Amino acid sequence: MIRHLARDDEEQATRLWSEAFGEDPPPGPPVNPVDRPGRRIHVAELDGRLVGSVIDREYDSWFGGRQVPTAGIAGVTVAVEQRGAGLLRPLFDACLTEARERGALVSTMFPTAAGIYRRLGYEVVGSLDDLEVPTAELDVAGDAVPLRRATVDDVPAIRAVHARWAAQQHGPLTRTGPSFPATDAELVNEFSGITVTEPAPGHVSGYVSWKRGTGYGESARLRVADLIADDRHSLAALLRSLAGHASVAPFTVIRTSGLEPWRLLLRSNAGRVVHRDPYGLAVLDVAALAAVGYPTAIEAELPFRWRGAGHVLTVSGGSAHVAPATVPDDARTVTDAGLAMAFAGAQSSAGQRLLGHLTGSGADDATWDALVSRPFHVRDYF
Ligand SMILES: CC(C)(COP(=O)(O)OP(=O)(O)OC[C@H]1O[C@@H](n2cnc3c(N)ncnc32)[C@H](O)[C@@H]1OP(=O)(O)O)[C@@H](O)C(=O)NCCC(=O)NCCS
Repeated sequence: MIRHLARDDEEQATRLWSEAFGEDPPPGPPVNPVDRPGRRIHVAELDGRLVGSVIDREYDSWFGGRQVPTAGIAGVTVAVEQRGAGLLRPLFDACLTEARERGALVSTMFPTAAGIYRRLGYEVVGSLDDLEVPTAELDVAGDAVPLRRATVDDVPAIRAVHARWAAQQHGPLTRTGPSFPATDAELVNEFSGITVTEPAPGHVSGYVSWKRGTGYGESARLRVADLIADDRHSLAALLRSLAGHASVAPFTVIRTSGLEPWRLLLRSNAGRVVHRDPYGLAVLDVAALAAVGYPTAIEAELPFRWRGAGHVLTVSGGSAHVAPATVPDDARTVTDAGLAMAFAGAQSSAGQRLLGHLTGSGADDATWDALVSRPFHVRDYF
C-alpha cells in the first residue's frame, strides 16, 4: 500500500533512511517529521511495516529568467529485503501525481545512480561539484573593490545578489518558499563568515560564504558554499580574500557547477573536482515549456511529439505557449530524457540524436538549440 507518512511512522522511517544513507539515527526529533512545511512524504507499507519512501520537496527553479515550480525528490529508498520487486514506480507515481496537482512542472533530484531513474523519465543534466583549488591560486590579479564582513542586516542584499545571478542561469533553486525556512540570523550563523563586496556605501555587489574548518597545515581545508558577484572587480576582491587563508589552509574547496566565470580569473589550471553530485531532471508536464523565458529575438512555431502526442510550441516576444496539435509523421520526436536535456539546455539536438532521444525532422534543431542555450548551474543539495 502506498500512502502518506503518518506521525506513528516517523521512527520507522528514520531507521529506513539511516539504513539507506548510512547515518546513525540522530537523537532527538525525527529527521522528516510529517508536518514539516514544503515536504510531502510518500511511503510503501507491507504487512504493517514501512518498506519504501519518496519525498517531494517543494521548490522553484530558475529557467530562462522565470521561476518554474519544481518537485525536488529526496529520501528515495526501499528496504533491503524488498529491493528489485518494482516498488519504486508506484511510489513515484503517487509522489509525482501529487506534485503535479500542486503545480510542479519539472522534477529534479541528486540520483545515487542515474540508471535507477531513467525509466521514470529523469536524465542527468548537470552536477554540483566540490572543486579543490590551492588557496594561494586564488590571489588573482586586477583591480578589486572594498569588502567587509557581513552582518545580519546584509542578508537581504546577499539574497538579492544570489537571485540576480540565479535568474541568469538554467537550473538553480530560488531559495525561496517553504523549503528554505532559514532566517537571516540562521543564514549568517551557518558560516564562519560571509564576506561582502561594497563598491559604494550601501551597495552589496557580491559575497562569499565560507567555513574555516578545523586546524591548520597540510590537511586543513577552507570550504566555500557560495562565491557570487555582479562584476569582475568584486569577484577579484572575494577571491583574494580567500587567498588570505593560504598559510593556514593550503586548499580551498569551492562548491560550484559548470564552468563558472570566476575560474577564468585564475592564472593556472590548478583545481580538481574532489566530489561530484550529478543532478537529474524530468519534465512532468509539457506546459513546462511555456513556463520559461526565451530569447526575445526568436519567433518560432515548433511542432514536436512527446509520449505519443503532438504539440506545437509557439515562441514570441520572449514567452511561449504550447498546445496540442496534429503533427506530421516525421515530426521532431523526443523521449522523456530528450525533453529533459532540451529543457535544461544540457545537450544540443545533435547530442540528443546521438543518444537516440531525438528522432524525426531536424528542420528545427538549430532553433531549439538557440532557444534553450544558457549555462546550467545548481547550488543547493537536497
Ligand atoms: C535505489 C532503490 C530505492 C531501488 O529500489 P528497488 O526496489 O530496487 O527498485 P525497483 O525494483 O522498483 O526498480 C529498480 C530499477 O532500478 C534499477 N537500479 C537499481 N539500482 C540501480 C543501480 N545502482 N544502478 C543502476 N540501476 C539500478 C534496477 O535495475 C531496476 O530497473 P529495471 O526494472 O529496469 O531492472 C534501492 O536500491 C535503495 O533503497 N538503495 C539504497 C538507497 C538509494 O540509493 N536511494 C536512491 C537515492 S537517490
